[in-house]
Amino acid sequence: MAYNDVYQSWKTDPEGFWLEAAKGIDWVKAPVKALSDDKAPMYEWFADSMVNACWNAVDRHVENGRGEQVAIIHDSPVTHSKREITFVELRNRVANLAGALRAKGIGKGDRVIIYMPMIPEALEAMLACARLGAVHSVVFGGFAANELAVRIDDCTPKAIIAASCGIEPGRVVHYKPLLDGAIDLATHKPEFCVIYQREQEVAHLEEGRDYNWHGFQYGVEPAECVPVEGSHPAYILYTSGTTGQPKGVVRPTGGHLVALNWTMKNIYNVDPGDVFWAASDVGWVVGHSYICYGPLVHGNTTVVFEGKPVGTPDAGTFWRVIEEHKVKSFFTAPTAFRAVKREDPTGEFVKKYDLSGLKAVYLAGERADPDTIVWAQDHLKVPVIDHWWQTELGYPAVCNPVGIELLPVKLGSPSVPLPGYAMKILDDNGHELPAGELGAVVTPLPLPPGTLQTLWNAEGRFKKSYLEHFPGYYETGDAGMIDEDGYLYIMARTDDVINVAGHRLSTGGMEEVLAGHPDVAECAVIGVSDALKGQLPVGFLCLNTGADRNEAEVVSEVVKMVRDKIGPVAAFKLAVVVDRLPKTRSGKILRGTMVSIADSKPYKMPATIDDPDILDEIAAALKLIGLANG
Ligand code: COA
Ligand code: AMP
Repeated sequence: MAYNDVYQSWKTDPEGFWLEAAKGIDWVKAPVKALSDDKAPMYEWFADSMVNACWNAVDRHVENGRGEQVAIIHDSPVTHSKREITFVELRNRVANLAGALRAKGIGKGDRVIIYMPMIPEALEAMLACARLGAVHSVVFGGFAANELAVRIDDCTPKAIIAASCGIEPGRVVHYKPLLDGAIDLATHKPEFCVIYQREQEVAHLEEGRDYNWHGFQYGVEPAECVPVEGSHPAYILYTSGTTGQPKGVVRPTGGHLVALNWTMKNIYNVDPGDVFWAASDVGWVVGHSYICYGPLVHGNTTVVFEGKPVGTPDAGTFWRVIEEHKVKSFFTAPTAFRAVKREDPTGEFVKKYDLSGLKAVYLAGERADPDTIVWAQDHLKVPVIDHWWQTELGYPAVCNPVGIELLPVKLGSPSVPLPGYAMKILDDNGHELPAGELGAVVTPLPLPPGTLQTLWNAEGRFKKSYLEHFPGYYETGDAGMIDEDGYLYIMARTDDVINVAGHRLSTGGMEEVLAGHPDVAECAVIGVSDALKGQLPVGFLCLNTGADRNEAEVVSEVVKMVRDKIGPVAAFKLAVVVDRLPKTRSGKILRGTMVSIADSKPYKMPATIDDPDILDEIAAALKLIGLANG
């Protein structure tokens, strides 16, 4: 079938389409009804079914004769180690860990935070929770203690599973002090922690609260898979919104399994047994969907890569991993390719490796700039597929459906909507805009299976953020347009979210930190264009009247504050002191205009600006830090 046929078959009978896709999953009780609208607009998929995610990702492959197939390849240039785990080994390891968690009282519905680097044990911890019907919430290692504390208070975990450390090039990330600090800061306290001691650092364990990963599993009964309802939350994953309070995306189990399994063939074009690699991190949605669940559920081998695109040890690492592990489909963020391209513009490293097994490359997480795509096409000689999705959706919504049919690639566009989605562009009043016009990107409700069910503890915020502005639609938060052929182009965010090296960050959250500095009266953070990371945050600080401070000192203090409170991943290194911020007469800070100035782009003088002269002051301040044609 061609893409149009598949898409039409979904349009004609969406429930039938997803019930057919559901046949790819092992159910304890198969769904009879696909969609329940009892709680509309909070739709549920496969609510009448019973299922277990771990069974589908692990045990069923052992039962079906794939036990000796490698399930996980750990390739870690930062620790100079490699390891392979077969499905049968994975089943035994996960069942033991789940048994130990169960012995300590973890059961269905209990939350467990996982704070771990890119090691197989992170996936094992996720799967052990899934085995018990416990709800995991993985927190990215680049976040600081305060961010971890916010998540502890929001999802109130009974347990936290962490590693002693992570390894970043040139430094050890001491996870345990960050974890201890977070628990001190949080109001909620977990009952216990499980610590995986890495050889690079053995952490101090607190008597009575912390257990060693290995010792804790000694002599326990392995746990069987616990069936849960299709609508039972598989996990909570926090993502950035407009404020410093992250949004806890709740992923329902049944739809998640069905949709991910469907995407592995129809998008990523892999068959069971093939090696699939998503070079991301378990702390992001890409890691949940395409390092852990998607490939494993589909019977693929997944690569857990602990390294960077460059510097570990060189710009050939990606190609070495692809050759060595026979990767068929590869997924990464455009920023990673920009990093490689910067060090290897003529593709010398690419030539050193046999990439004949590689069939396609997928990019997501931020806009894929045409130069980067062309570089990858020229050197890798395979289709380079930009595809669009979000933490909320859990898997690609707009994509060139390679496994169904490779449509013509249009540079700058992630292509066409997949079954489940029917993107439209609306103006601010909710009127649909014609082809080529820029507006808010929306898709009609109900969202397909596997997309967010709600926000944890924040149903009101869920409705307000996504459903209320354009009734009947899910608002993506992105602005874009659709061309005559139905191809979508994403242009910008409509909120205060920025995208730094493929990482989604809240400028509002950074402003909350800056505002906490005793000498800062007012502040703004904007995202400016950056050739490597896509965007970088820049802070503007107005100091309190009478604050007799050295400006450079204040700047370095706020840089440190953001690193300490949000984490190194915020990449907040640029800030300037200004006398005033440009505002409208009603007091709204003109962030968009500031971004245009910083990016040296033409802009229209806002009609409602209070004092146009301030824009010159902003331009002068930006020049001082090398921006705005400085
Ligand atoms: N734990 C602790 N710290 C981390 C971390 C982690 N898991 N991941 C990143 N950091 C730190 C980095 O060490 C860096 O710290 P520094 O300020 O001391 O140098 C900081 O956070 C910023 O990291 P990053 O933005 O990743 O920049 P980088 O300079 O280390 O690497 C790239 C640049 C482009 C190579 C890198 O960003 C990259 O590979 N990006 C891919 C993004 C990706 O996979 N996104 C997921 C969506 S698909
Ligand atoms: P995240 O939730 O971290 O996956 O970030 C989702 C956001 O990243 C989207 O709302 C977009 O703003 C941006 N994004 C993701 N994929 C793409 C893409 N292919 N092209 C442009 N922007 C993208």
